Amino acid sequence: MKSVSYLLMAAMVVFLSAQLVQGQTSMSKEALIEKGEYLIMIAGCHDCHTPKKMTPEGPVPNMQLKLSGHPQDADLPDFDPSDVGPGKWVLLNESLTAFVGPWGMTFSPNLTPDKQTGIGLWTEQNFIKAMRTGKHMGTGRPILPPMPWTNLKNAKTEDLKAMFAYLKSIKPIKNLVPGPVPAEKLAEINQ
Ligand code: HEC
Repeated sequence: MKSVSYLLMAAMVVFLSAQLVQGQTSMSKEALIEKGEYLIMIAGCHDCHTPKKMTPEGPVPNMQLKLSGHPQDADLPDFDPSDVGPGKWVLLNESLTAFVGPWGMTFSPNLTPDKQTGIGLWTEQNFIKAMRTGKHMGTGRPILPPMPWTNLKNAKTEDLKAMFAYLKSIKPIKNLVPGPVPAEKLAEINQ
């Protein structure tokens, strides 16, 4: 009798773990996107990739422009390039989408699926490799600060997949974000 119940228990364990594995692999598209939305939210991607509205309480994300990056027509305030450099200040604009530091000036890219100006043409592989290696699209130039790819490189592949699925599912917004300005050119853009 004892051995029969052991057998039954063993069979149950096998059955349940098979269910578990199946559950993991057969996550529906909707569930994957929902998980990605949650991860993008708690990982703070909106902090830099969604333009802000200034309120008395400080900058809040403008979800109408969700994840569309630094607005292409935004005016940038002047700054004194001699305040910036190693051991000096790091600056950010009020939308928290443009940054100045010893690395030069960077702008948060458009993460919406627009084909010309966003990540519409990226593959899942581009995204995962970019986050893991810190190289543009996984193979190009180094991704500059303050993009926290050094944190993201530790994310589980399934989480990066969910984030990418979500980014591909959101409203495409046409917004051509400027490329980075090298540190030695900062004086020129303030003339
Ligand atoms: C502190 C600000 C900040 C946060 C937070 C942030 N990013 Fe970025 N991100 C940037 C900046 C700035 C760049 C552009 C850097 C450059 O031009 O090299 C960038 C670049 C990127 C790129 C383009 C990489 C490439 O290959 O060119 C992707 C994709 C990206 N971020 C995704 C994310 C995701 C997903 C999150 C949330 C987990 C996130 N970012 C959080 C600032 C940020």
